[in-house]
Amino acid sequence: MSKAFDVVVIGAGPGGYIAAIRAAQLGFNTACIDEWKNEKGGPAPGGTCTNVGCIPSKALLQSSENFDQAGHHFADHGIGLSNLSIDVSKMLGRKNTVVKQNNDGILYLFKKNKVTFFHGRASFVKAGEGGYEIALAGNTPDTLTATHVIVATGSNPRVLPGADFDEASILSNDGALRIPAVPKTLGVIGSGVIGLEMGSVWRRLGADVTVLEALPTFLGAVDEQIAKEAHKAFTKQGLKIHLDVKISAVTSATTGVSVAYTDAAGEEQTLACEKLIVSIGRVPNTNGLNAQAVGLKLDERGFVVVDADCRTNLPNVWAVGDVVRGPMLAHKAEEEGAAVAERIAGQHPHVDFNTVPWVIYTSPEIAWVGQTEQQLKSVGRAYKAGTFPFMANGRARALGDTTGMVKMLADAKTDEILGVHIVGPYASELIAEAVVAMEFKASSEDIARICHAHPSLSEATKEAALAVDKRALNF
Ligand code: FAD
Ligand code: NAI
Repeated sequence: MSKAFDVVVIGAGPGGYIAAIRAAQLGFNTACIDEWKNEKGGPAPGGTCTNVGCIPSKALLQSSENFDQAGHHFADHGIGLSNLSIDVSKMLGRKNTVVKQNNDGILYLFKKNKVTFFHGRASFVKAGEGGYEIALAGNTPDTLTATHVIVATGSNPRVLPGADFDEASILSNDGALRIPAVPKTLGVIGSGVIGLEMGSVWRRLGADVTVLEALPTFLGAVDEQIAKEAHKAFTKQGLKIHLDVKISAVTSATTGVSVAYTDAAGEEQTLACEKLIVSIGRVPNTNGLNAQAVGLKLDERGFVVVDADCRTNLPNVWAVGDVVRGPMLAHKAEEEGAAVAERIAGQHPHVDFNTVPWVIYTSPEIAWVGQTEQQLKSVGRAYKAGTFPFMANGRARALGDTTGMVKMLADAKTDEILGVHIVGPYASELIAEAVVAMEFKASSEDIARICHAHPSLSEATKEAALAVDKRALNF
């Protein structure tokens, strides 16, 4: 049995579910298919982001931050606690509840917007006159035909050769989010976003965490000054970060994992740890999609090849999110999903990668948008820089968190804001002002002249803007 739709979206992660909702809002008869299963085998839409990514990691970051605050900072406020403890299974249960609320929220949104949802694996069968035929495993109907197809199949963790994930001792993001008890020792391979966020969670709860990173620079994509400040803060917290290492072997035994590596000085070293998280990037996922049946073009790394508007090599087949080029971020996937639906409807949306914000939800948080100082230097662009430390911000002092700074980079001639980089409290929220400013092509003077509430952390952004013109008032 087959059923026809105007738009069929494969994958209900942030790219896919947003594309489906937007397509339905625009009047298309839309279906969305997703194969993710919850513990009971039922549907769990939301993809990596909701199930084993953004949402559960932020739930655990919050729980562990609360524990860290209670253990190390409440006393500064005169709050005494004795016998502080962490119930890991309760913490994981709370995280699971948060995930389920998000799964259910997406199912509700599908209903509200009249998106037909199918639970199961979708694969291309053929392209015919009536559109694309898509097989739907385990469903009635067992095939759909679609005028337009949006591929939003996401990504999977990259495997380190010789260190397959068993999710018991060698963990991907999935296992890292459900370690049943705080390990005494935790190894992390890769000091990228996942390594730092998950390493922070388990360190705050008491694990002795060692991070092994192949590159000689820490957070190479981040503005150097900001990365340096973050490195200082993480090291002070007790995260052991070893850069410029070469992993030679990973051996797993019942007692734990042993990692043999060469350090920056060329010395052979061994790290013995109870659990090991491997977070060395992610790879596009087209498993089971049967892309070859219709001739959907993938590149040599497995990404679906798309143009700037997310068009694939096939007419009326689009692809968005982690499965295509560009940053692997949920909000980037969402923007592309909505934009594709609007393009199908004949509209002309635009997604600007230069104003996609990045956030690393460690403590301090790191957030940025636009160009780093090293990028501007490398292209020879003349710029002015202004920084303002949270140390000089009244609200940060009241919060008891004065780590870090706001840094603004502006064109030397036109004063247009080229990049904003923040390390410090609530950087994830503060960065939104910078994104708005850059989208509106604001100058640093525009921000400097805007009244910001006092006392607020956002005053640090205003002061960084004033500092671009060397006229900070509070530092
Ligand atoms: P996905 O979310 O991966 O969704 C793809 C969906 O497609 C999945 O549900 C999958 O089951 C389904 N699927 C695949 N193939 C088929 C098929 N053939 N048939 C049916 N269904 C199929 N990003 C942020 O912006 N902020 C964060 O804080 C953040 N934190 C993260 C933390 C971790 C630990 C990880 C791993 C990632 C994090 N990310 C974060 C990245 C973010 O999760 C991804 O960028 C985002 O999920 C990509 O969305 P997507 O829709 O492209 O793919
Ligand atoms: P990543 O690309 O952020 O970091 C991977 C790190 O591993 C890099 O520093 C790399 O140099 C290092 N590495 C690679 N091979 C190595 C090896 N053999 N030995 C040692 N180090 C090695 O990738 P990560 O952390 O796996 O996350 C994947 C993606 O998920 C991120 O890039 C991001 O797009 C997304 N994500 C976003 C989050 C957020 O927005 N807050 C949170 C978590 C993930």
